[in-house]
Amino acid sequence: MTTTASTTVRPTARDAAGRPLRQVHLAAHFPGVNNTSVWSDGKAESQIAFSSFRYFAQNAERGKFDFLFLAEGLRLREQKGLIHDLDVVGRPNTLAIPAGIAAVTEHIGLVGTLSSTFNEPYELARQLASLDLLSGGRAGWNIVTTSDAFHGENFRRGGFLDPKDRYVRAEEFVAVARALWDGWAPGALSANKDTGEFLSADALTAVDHHGQQFDVNGFGTLPRSPQGHPVIVQAGDSADGRDFASANAEVIFSLHSEFTDGQRFFRDVKGRLPAVGRHPDSLKILPAAAFILGDTEAEARVRSREVALLQVSPQAAISFLEQLWGTDLGGYDPDGPLPEIDPVLADEGVTRGRVRHVADPVAVAKSWRGLAEAEGLSIRDLVIRFAAKHTFVGTPVQVAEEINRHVQEEASDGFVIVGHTNPTGLDEFVDRVIPELQERGVYRTEYEPGTTLRETLGLTQ
Ligand SMILES: Cc1cc2nc3c(=O)[nH]c(=O)nc-3n(C[C@H](O)[C@H](O)[C@H](O)COP(=O)(O)O)c2cc1C
Repeated sequence: MTTTASTTVRPTARDAAGRPLRQVHLAAHFPGVNNTSVWSDGKAESQIAFSSFRYFAQNAERGKFDFLFLAEGLRLREQKGLIHDLDVVGRPNTLAIPAGIAAVTEHIGLVGTLSSTFNEPYELARQLASLDLLSGGRAGWNIVTTSDAFHGENFRRGGFLDPKDRYVRAEEFVAVARALWDGWAPGALSANKDTGEFLSADALTAVDHHGQQFDVNGFGTLPRSPQGHPVIVQAGDSADGRDFASANAEVIFSLHSEFTDGQRFFRDVKGRLPAVGRHPDSLKILPAAAFILGDTEAEARVRSREVALLQVSPQAAISFLEQLWGTDLGGYDPDGPLPEIDPVLADEGVTRGRVRHVADPVAVAKSWRGLAEAEGLSIRDLVIRFAAKHTFVGTPVQVAEEINRHVQEEASDGFVIVGHTNPTGLDEFVDRVIPELQERGVYRTEYEPGTTLRETLGLTQ
């Protein structure tokens, strides 16, 4: 079924008390390099060909998504000393993709994940300003601190920073980038052919920064984009990460997609804003969400199980556990119970390059064992629960209502939606869920002409 989104802009819908309904914001996550991408699906195409990125971005724009979202991994993962090919392997550089996509789209925002630990602010600020300018103010930067030294081994200073210092660097990094962007006054370029004046008086302010991490002296190299500078996004969950986000970010990409957990996270992060002089609407919270649709709820549940079994093969189930246990579990039956042995707490386990790390693997293993015993879950069942959980499963109406409930009841401002096939994984969502959201008056039916990403997101600052 193909239903095209309507082109009329509806008046703002209101709740029973006459208040305007909160609007849903959606980002389209290009299916990444994780095992959740089913590359063996008959419809799946290359995850590195430009045609895939173009198809994906244009489809997301058809669905009026706020932005296209790209994660970043600076190194191929390894498992037991070999390339970890149970994940999809290979990913072009984060800035090359939106640079190309800007030329084949008109409205959709372009947000790339780029590490503040393994870059330099002068160079990255310049690259992001270039993308922002060339795309007409559609760029965003998802700031990650990249938590492990494995990722750093290919950089000339290696791991070089403890995780605890990474937000210190990130703070200084953003401050320098902002100073470079803000160093160009609005309207700095006068380019007056009659008077011969190219730059207005006082157009540029030099940056002269000398800090713990960086020494930068000079001018930014580009005038402001229509939105001034790229939208700042953040992904990181610790207290330091949340403080960093409340001071700097305009969007948070979070893992808190469950309703009550989402409400808790929403309250926590938005509650930090007044202390730094910010309005709650100046920061949007968008958790990651996977979905499976069906014509009936029962059909969606069956599909969800089928897809999960493709996402978590028997080998993938064991390798997922090895990432926590830090040791070879090849002798265990994926359809059997969890290992009785405790995780090995070596500095370097059998897996290298996972983005997320666990503070206390022994405690986590204990809780997983408890859950598996209580619910009679095999290793593979348990891994499906954690690695292939589909946030929204149901008919298009059910999924739209659930997304809307999260937004109206402040469990999020929307979602970063990820499909499991590449590049067509969001087609069904665009065809069937988007019209339901539009019908409820909580989602745009057209982009406002000429808007920047910051305006599309409805950000207030
Ligand atoms: C939802 C989410 C997505 C992330 N995506 C990436 C990524 O694409 N690339 C990366 O290098 N790090 C990524 N990270 C890692 C963070 O940048 C950070 O290094 C890590 O979460 C540790 O910080 P924390 O203790 O504040 O969570 C991600 C973290 C979260 C929570």
